Amino acid sequence: MTPYVADPVYLDGRFLPLAEARISPLDRGFLYGDGVYEVIPVYSRRPFRGDEHLARLQATLDGVRLRNPLTAAEWRGVVGRLVADAPWEDQSIYLQVSRGADDKRDHAFPPAAVPPTVFAFASPLVTTPAAVRERGVAAITLPDLRWGRCDLKVVSLLANVLARQQAVDAGCAEAIFLRDGLLKEGAASNIFVVKDGTLLAPPKTRLMLPGITYDVALELAATHGLPTAVREIGEGELRAADEVWMTSSTKEILAITTLDGKPVGGGRPGPVGQAMWQWYQDFKNTVMRHG
Ligand code: PDD
Repeated sequence: MTPYVADPVYLDGRFLPLAEARISPLDRGFLYGDGVYEVIPVYSRRPFRGDEHLARLQATLDGVRLRNPLTAAEWRGVVGRLVADAPWEDQSIYLQVSRGADDKRDHAFPPAAVPPTVFAFASPLVTTPAAVRERGVAAITLPDLRWGRCDLKVVSLLANVLARQQAVDAGCAEAIFLRDGLLKEGAASNIFVVKDGTLLAPPKTRLMLPGITYDVALELAATHGLPTAVREIGEGELRAADEVWMTSSTKEILAITTLDGKPVGGGRPGPVGQAMWQWYQDFKNTVMRHG
């Protein structure tokens, strides 16, 4: 147990203390980043959109030709036990599957008899402090150097890691990827733009992770009658936006008020993002916390 990882963790069919969890250094997750993952938020010990997260996990496994080692019911069992045993009411559950450990190093897939490695643990869900949220955060833009399947939630995250660190080095909270002059997403979040009262969202293509929070934001926009357009967003539109926000399971809805050192809109969180944050909180407290 650490302040950020509860005991027990789940590893390959067993629940055990983190300090006793061991995998082979030949594990392909370690050697190649050959694995996939999910992050599921949990409110009042209820996994939020657990089925959607498990469906995205399945889509990613299919996309990298890795068989799902557990049934959906077994995954729900693992998540349920981790949630029940962790000391926090609000959590984030991390799930990872790698292509396992062969007895040698070879890029091509190991024999079918090599079992995938399955690891899962619970962390506390720490939301953004009100003071930060009310001020908004800063972001930088970077060229998107990732591969062509950013719709898959894979653990090979080096480009995201380097981008996020570049943001941190610049005193910023997030890096926003631009590819071919178009806004794609953040290093660990989806990005929304508001212009003249309309919410703009980049479309789900192979160059963006289909965020579960992204879906929730678009659903809330529809529910509350907010004009929305899902379409490609050019770099110029991003820079001329009235509002820019990031969304993710752990960040929820967070305004980006400075982009590459320049203020976004008025340099303060805008009314549309503030409304969306409130809708999200209401939804969380009325729906998510009660299943
Ligand atoms: N990241 N895009 C990227 C590249 C992400 O890594 C994430 C989430 C999202 C938002 O997806 P969702 O709304 O389903 O959380 C978009 C998680 C939280 C992570 O890597 O820790």
